[in-house]
Amino acid sequence: MELTGAVCLVTGGSSGIGRAVALRLARSGAQVVALGRDRDALDEVARATSGYGVVADLAAPGEVERAAEEALRLAGRVDLLVNNAGEGWAGRFSEMNPLRAEELIRTNLSAPIRLTRSLLPAMLERRKGHVVNVSSIAGHVGVRDEAVYAATKAALIAFTESLRYELAGSGVGASVVSPGTVRTAFFERRGRPYDRSFPRPIDADQVARAVLRAVRRDKAEVFAPRWMAFPAWLRGSWPGLYRAMAGRWG
Ligand SMILES: NC(=O)c1ccc[n+]([C@@H]2O[C@H](COP(=O)([O-])OP(=O)(O)OC[C@H]3O[C@@H](n4cnc5c(N)ncnc54)[C@H](OP(=O)(O)O)[C@@H]3O)[C@@H](O)[C@H]2O)c1
Repeated sequence: MELTGAVCLVTGGSSGIGRAVALRLARSGAQVVALGRDRDALDEVARATSGYGVVADLAAPGEVERAAEEALRLAGRVDLLVNNAGEGWAGRFSEMNPLRAEELIRTNLSAPIRLTRSLLPAMLERRKGHVVNVSSIAGHVGVRDEAVYAATKAALIAFTESLRYELAGSGVGASVVSPGTVRTAFFERRGRPYDRSFPRPIDADQVARAVLRAVRRDKAEVFAPRWMAFPAWLRGSWPGLYRAMAGRWG
C-alpha cells in the first residue's frame, strides 16, 4: 500500500515501537492518529507527526469501539490500522492473578480483533487498506514465565494468518510483525527487567521499519530482527530439537 496520504491509526502510539512507527509513517507522508492512555505523550507524538491523539484504555469496556469512532471523526477514515498496543506480564502462571490474565487478553488480543472488526468493512468497501498486528517471537515459540503473554501473541499470529486468506483479492492486506527483544519501557512496565545477555535488544525504529516494509510490500509475516525467523522455523520444523535447546538455555 502507498503510504503518502494514507490515514494510519497506530495503537500504543504514545511509547516505544508504536511511537517509532507513528514518526516513520509521518515522515513517509501519512496522516497519523496515535492511540494510547498517556495524554501528554500522545500530545507530543501528535505535535511531532502533525497528526492526532486518541486517549483510550483498550482494556476498558466499550473503549475500543469508542476509540475507533473518535479516530474516524478526527481523520475521516482509516487506511492502515497498526494494532501495536500491548503489555507483558512475567512470572509463574500458577501465581498469576486471573484478573491480570484477563486484562492482558483484553489489551493484547480482544482489542486488536475488535478494532479490526470496526474498521475493516470500510476498507473493504474502498478496496484499499492494511492491518498490521504486532505480535512477538514469544507467540511463535513460547517462553517460560510468559504463558499468557505468549498465548495472546500466538493467537494474534493465527488471527492475522486466517484473515489474510479471507482478504485475498480484496485490495486489503494483513501482516503480522514479530519483534524479538526491543529496547522500550515494556520490560520495566511488566515489572521484570530484561536480564538475558542474548538476544541483544534492538531499537524500536528497527521494528518500525519492519512494519512499513510489511505494508509497502504486503508481507504476510515479518520478523525484527530478520534472523528471529530462524527460532520460529526451528520450533516449527524440529520441535523436539528446539525444546531441548530451549530447556537447556532458557
Ligand atoms: N519490547 C519488546 O521487547 C517487545 C518484543 C516483542 C513484542 N513487543 C510488542 O510490541 C508492542 C509495543 O510494545 P513496546 O515494546 O513499544 O512497549 P511500551 O513502550 O511499553 O509501549 C506499549 C504501548 O501500548 C500502550 N498500551 C498498553 N496497554 C494499553 C491499554 N490498555 N490501552 C491503550 N494503550 C495501551 C501504551 O500506551 P500508554 O503508554 O499511553 O499507556 C504504549 O503506548 C506490544 O504489543 C508488545 O507486546 C514488544
